[in-house]
Amino acid sequence: MDVTECRAIVTGAASGLGRACCLGLAEAGAEVVAVDSDRKGLDSLAGDRIFVQEADVTRECEVASAVDAAFARLGRVDVLVNFAGIYRDGLLVKDIGEGDFVSMPLAQWRAVIETDLTGTFLPVRETALRMVRDGVRPGVLITVSSVSRNGNPGQGNYSAAKAGVVAFTRSVALELAPHGIRAAAIAPGFIDTPILSAMDPDRLSAQVDEIPARRLGTPAEIFAGVRFAIECEYFTGRCLEIDGGLSF
Ligand SMILES: NC(=O)c1ccc[n+]([C@@H]2O[C@H](COP(=O)([O-])OP(=O)(O)OC[C@H]3O[C@@H](n4cnc5c(N)ncnc54)[C@H](O)[C@@H]3O)[C@@H](O)[C@H]2O)c1
Repeated sequence: MDVTECRAIVTGAASGLGRACCLGLAEAGAEVVAVDSDRKGLDSLAGDRIFVQEADVTRECEVASAVDAAFARLGRVDVLVNFAGIYRDGLLVKDIGEGDFVSMPLAQWRAVIETDLTGTFLPVRETALRMVRDGVRPGVLITVSSVSRNGNPGQGNYSAAKAGVVAFTRSVALELAPHGIRAAAIAPGFIDTPILSAMDPDRLSAQVDEIPARRLGTPAEIFAGVRFAIECEYFTGRCLEIDGGLSF
């Protein structure tokens, strides 16, 4: 697919990787509907080829309306890139001393599964439904996983969600191939965005020491992967790792 002519929905668009993706697509000539729950962040992104749409990706009705609005605004949608995500790290069971232990609250588990996994399912489902119904061909659905999908201490909720994203994406790719629609995941390593500001600086610096490339990645490097996934018509059902060599 020619990225210069595509019409895309990008979720998680107000910040970090989603924001860089919207700007990269618009600069290439694409038209974008930028979706996020952060109204202020969206407003600072709106531009010539970027239309903004506030929605929470965990809310079924809001996602359906946002996707409807995007199809109406753009005429057709042939690309979805799903960046909306959070992490809420914590150990499953933590020793807090003097024989006491705490465990991960259910709410902490659910928040991440809801945003990162259900918040991927809903935009993919709503976009795929309209693509199939409208006979959009070719189409591509891009989801965002993480190096953590292989399991990481303190990230049981996030790892489970991001592994689920890859399995879900492969299922979608197999189901929609007959319709001319591809689906692929991108698994970033540690990328320099606001999401990392919540991480303990010592832990982050220790992580960087373990990256063969010895540095954080940039949002532009993740956009290069998105661009590849849009442009390469033979790329489907796979997860593209962009992590400086971190994962095995
Ligand atoms: N930055 C990294 O190192 C890294 C590494 C691996 C994976 N990722 C993944 O990439 C994606 C983007 O991360 P980022 O670094 O740009 O983070 P970020 O915090 O800068 O941006 C995330 C965006 O998602 C939005 N969002 C969160 N919950 C939402 C909801 N319920 N509805 C709508 N919007 C919502 C936020 O408002 C924010 O604008 C996430 O899925 C993250 O898990 C990031």
